[in-house]
Amino acid sequence: MRVIILGSAAGGGVPQWNCGCPNCLDARHDARGRMQSSVAVSADGERWILLNASPDLRMQFAAHHELWPRGLRSSPIGAVVLTDGEIDHTLGLLLLRESADRLPVYAPRGVSTLLGAEWPLYRVLSAYAGVEPRALEEGGPIALTDHAGTPFGICCSATAVARRPPRYAREVTAPAAAFDVGLRLTDERTGGTLAYVPTAGAMDDAVRRVAGGADLLLFDGTFWSDDELKAAGVDAPTAREMGHVPVGGAGGSLELLPRLDAKRVVFVHINNTNPILCRSSAQRAQVESAGIVVGEDAMEFELWACR
Ligand code: MLT
Ligand code: MN
Ligand code: ZN
Repeated sequence: MRVIILGSAAGGGVPQWNCGCPNCLDARHDARGRMQSSVAVSADGERWILLNASPDLRMQFAAHHELWPRGLRSSPIGAVVLTDGEIDHTLGLLLLRESADRLPVYAPRGVSTLLGAEWPLYRVLSAYAGVEPRALEEGGPIALTDHAGTPFGICCSATAVARRPPRYAREVTAPAAAFDVGLRLTDERTGGTLAYVPTAGAMDDAVRRVAGGADLLLFDGTFWSDDELKAAGVDAPTAREMGHVPVGGAGGSLELLPRLDAKRVVFVHINNTNPILCRSSAQRAQVESAGIVVGEDAMEFELWACR
């Protein structure tokens, strides 16, 4: 299975349009920005599955020849899988409205409900090619297929992770179904396994189940510390209140990640305020000495079950 990190940043990207934090200032000066969170995977290198639909999709597809059209109106992207209903992971669906076919979108049931109601992307898109909502039930695994029902050779299981509904749906107090899942994707031929958990509020059994023994774990690296935004002078909730377990400190993800027995661990969905983005920071050194990689846009992996 091939895996491409299309965008390694959390919502807002780096630089964020209205942010003057040190990382955003640096990114403007050296033109080394980061696009918002999204990943592409493929078993055959020809047909690709998009994991989360970033607002930066247009540039992300243009940056990778594998994702270029093969005809006048076509795309190697055959389906989308959503881990949650956050704006930074779903807004890109609107940018796929020119699609020739109804685009299969796998999402947890709680997310499909939001996308038909509070954040009505499915309704808006129905005036265009539209999407074909497919339920990503917990458990599985299910074989992912394109709009014609042809399997991609990748199966997927979803596990609900600790999280609250998105901010635009806070009044949805008793969710009938999961809003956030971690994904475990397996190449049916090679057995190569990707665990993808870009949003996790805690290091719990759900995370252990999704990530344990994976060939590659792409994990929530949103914030270094719980009070990161407040400390930067922004009036905002804490990392944990936003549903992101911080990387550093007591109970941070860095304590447990090396013990999950994943072959490689890479942080994704990194917020622009996170000091691990600065190559000379002490926090970056701490991550690297734990054997964990700070994800970058365009990083590529080839997964084989050769453990
Ligand atoms: C999150 O990951 O917590 C959200 O995307 C935050 C946001 O609304 O940008
Ligand atoms: Mn986000
Ligand atoms: Zn910033």
